[in-house]
Parts: sequence; C-alpha cells; structure tokens
Amino acid sequence: MPQPTITLNIFRYRPEQDQAPTFQTYVVPYRTDWVVLDAINYIKDTLDGSLSYRWSCRMGICGSCGMMINGVPKLGCATFLKEYYPAPVRVEPLANFPVERDLVIVLDDFMQKLTSIKPWIIPKEAKPLSAGEYRQTPAELARYKQFSMCINCMLCYAACPVYGLDQHFLGPAAIALAQRYNLDSRDQGRSERQEVLATEEGIWDCTLVGECTTVCPAHVDPAGAIQQAKLATALDWVKGVLMPWGKR
Ligand code: FES
Repeated sequence: MPQPTITLNIFRYRPEQDQAPTFQTYVVPYRTDWVVLDAINYIKDTLDGSLSYRWSCRMGICGSCGMMINGVPKLGCATFLKEYYPAPVRVEPLANFPVERDLVIVLDDFMQKLTSIKPWIIPKEAKPLSAGEYRQTPAELARYKQFSMCINCMLCYAACPVYGLDQHFLGPAAIALAQRYNLDSRDQGRSERQEVLATEEGIWDCTLVGECTTVCPAHVDPAGAIQQAKLATALDWVKGVLMPWGKR
C-alpha cells in the first residue's frame, strides 16, 4: 500500500527581496503520530532547506514554534496532522507581527512589552542570603501559579483583535505576567508596574474578547488575569476617593 501523503501550503516571504508573500505547496508523508512541526522538519531536511521557522523543545515548553495553522494560532509541535488529514494544511507566521522571513516573526515589540512590566520579584528590602529563603505557603503559591505557566509563545497576541488593531496595547501575556508578580507574596513592586498596567494602552485597552485564553496552550487564562488587574486598579481608585489619606 502506498504511503499516504498530506499537503502543506506554507507562507514564504523574504522581505528584503520578495515584493509580496507567496504560498509554496509541499507534499509530505502522512503519519498519525506526526505533528505539523514534524512535517515542516521533513520539508526542511528533505525537500527545501531554505524554509525558515523557529522551534526548539518539540514538547510545548519553549514557546518558539507558534504559527497560524489553518488561520488559528497554535504550537506546531502540539498540533497533529490527523486533525486536518486528508485536507491540506495552511501554515503562516503568527498574525499581528512583522515577518522576519517565512514563518519567523520579529519579536522586538513583544520583548519590549515583556520587560516593561518588570517580570521579576521586587522586594521592599533585599534580605541577606544568610537570612534564608523567602518562604511561601501553598495558598500563597496558588494565588499566582496559573499565571506563572506562560511559555511566551505569543499565540495570545496573534489571537487578540485589540493588539491586531492597536500595536500599542500592552497585550495579554505581558499583563498576565505582571499579575503573576503582583500576586506574589514576596513582591512589593506593584506600584512600579501600575505605571505601565493602569493606562489606556495597558489593562483598559482590553475589551474582554477572550481569544487569548482560548488559544493559550498553557492554560494561563490571560483574560482572567487582565480582569483581576482591572478590578484591583478600580479598587485602588475607590480607596483613593474614600480614604484619600491612605492613597498609594
Ligand atoms: Fe518548543 Fe514547540 S518547539 S513549544
């Protein structure tokens, strides 16, 4: 029996020399245990070494293989060909980002946004090492653990219609990560992060479409994090009105 095959239509673009993107068609072996990334690796290894894309861990951890698969932001290493077979599969770079080459997007905007929210613990005063660990109870850990599971894959930015319209929006992953540190009992950096979060282009730009949470492969629920941050910020305002002497 002949080896079954599946067709991949893959976005190709080299901005420095191509006038416009094109799609290139590749026919690859179909195997039920292959994910889309396996098919792309097969193309790279045996059909066309010029195809460019990112990947590393092949197990949904590094977050580098985000791509649009039939128009939906997904991890190439976690999306099986059998979800689509025998129909062809369309593979494109993550939406809402400039293209570096083929499936590789430019990360600069995301990296700048990620660092702007200071994604590290900011203690009021650092303890000397000799004072021992910063200990937490399981309940304190549970407050932020879900938001700490982000793998920075940027699928949420590709799915977010607000970011698609306004690239100034801080975006789902950066806000979820800010909330992760704001909820950490060892951290006292919330007021510093609020300068970025509690702005028009921060939490208030989100219109709660919720696609970020739908596509998140790590079940972080960025939409939930953003609503938590909105509520906490609104409470700051109420406290400031009712108790102006205690305003942060
Ligand atoms: Fe690491 Fe897909 S290759 S998440």
